[in-house]
Amino acid sequence: MKATATAHPNIALVKYWGKRDDELNLPATGSISLTLEGLSTTTTVDFDDRLDCDVVALDGEPLDHGRPYRRVVAFLDLVRKAAGIDRFARVETANDFPTASGLASSASGFAALATASAAAAGLDWSRPRLSALARRGSGSAARSLFGGFAEMYPGTRSDGRDAHAVEIADADHWQLRCLIALTTGKQKSVGSTPGMQRTRDTSPYFPAWCDTVDGDLRAAREAIEHRDFEQLGTVAERSCLRMHASALSADPGVLYWNGTTVELMHRIRAFRTRGVECFFTIDAGPHVKVFCTVDHLQRLRSMLQKFDGVSKVLCARPGRGARLADAASQPPG
Ligand code: PMV
Repeated sequence: MKATATAHPNIALVKYWGKRDDELNLPATGSISLTLEGLSTTTTVDFDDRLDCDVVALDGEPLDHGRPYRRVVAFLDLVRKAAGIDRFARVETANDFPTASGLASSASGFAALATASAAAAGLDWSRPRLSALARRGSGSAARSLFGGFAEMYPGTRSDGRDAHAVEIADADHWQLRCLIALTTGKQKSVGSTPGMQRTRDTSPYFPAWCDTVDGDLRAAREAIEHRDFEQLGTVAERSCLRMHASALSADPGVLYWNGTTVELMHRIRAFRTRGVECFFTIDAGPHVKVFCTVDHLQRLRSMLQKFDGVSKVLCARPGRGARLADAASQPPG
């Protein structure tokens, strides 16, 4: 009853921001992302009948019984219930990139946890079903079950079974690159769940934000299909800025950016006017993710490395979906 899985974070090009159901973690709208290899989470789950509580270690450090631990235990409870088992588990998880800073560590974390815990519990589930399970841990994690470009369906069922991601183009479809400019070492001030709740409950712009998403999903699907960089950049920056506009107009406003974040947005746009193929996106944190074509990678990377306020630049490429370490027993479909 032991399994190990690896998953990568994904970065949304059409953002998810707001839930239609808090309990089942159902998104209010769809979203589209790119799964990124070069950053990974590896998680081992061992259901062991000698344990008298779940034991969780993150990056080698045992977790105390605070919120991150309780999220993992609540997730394991779902798996135990589905598998009809009552054993506690030992969970060891490690990220090779900064945790909880707006770098989508919860996406790769819950995608790896869903894949490893379901296999360890003997559940032979399809990828869409594992994706819906991963969603219970973190909405964006549902997309990391898939490689390349993934689309999350918000679904219409009240039980959430149709709220899962699908792959819309695999990792080899389009050789984009994503540079991640870290603008702080600090953990984010408002998590995505409270940030979304406050936006939904208090922002006068939240309904308007939701109304824009379907059009952006259509435009992004089309841009991906035709590998139209300019169109994808237009949609992605628009979706990012509208998501943040809805959050900024909550009460009190949810502000994830620092000064460097804003300076970088200006710099990316200035580069683009000089013919460099690039666009930015920003999640629930101050880091800036810059997508570019392979041809312009080196020029952008050296600009970002020298940029005042940027502490580190990570580089990622389109990656595979979550998978078990044991290659012979990958989730089907
Ligand atoms: O999956 P969560 O709850 O961490 O929310 C992710 C929210 C954003 O990263 C800001 C947008 C997205 O679609 O990934």
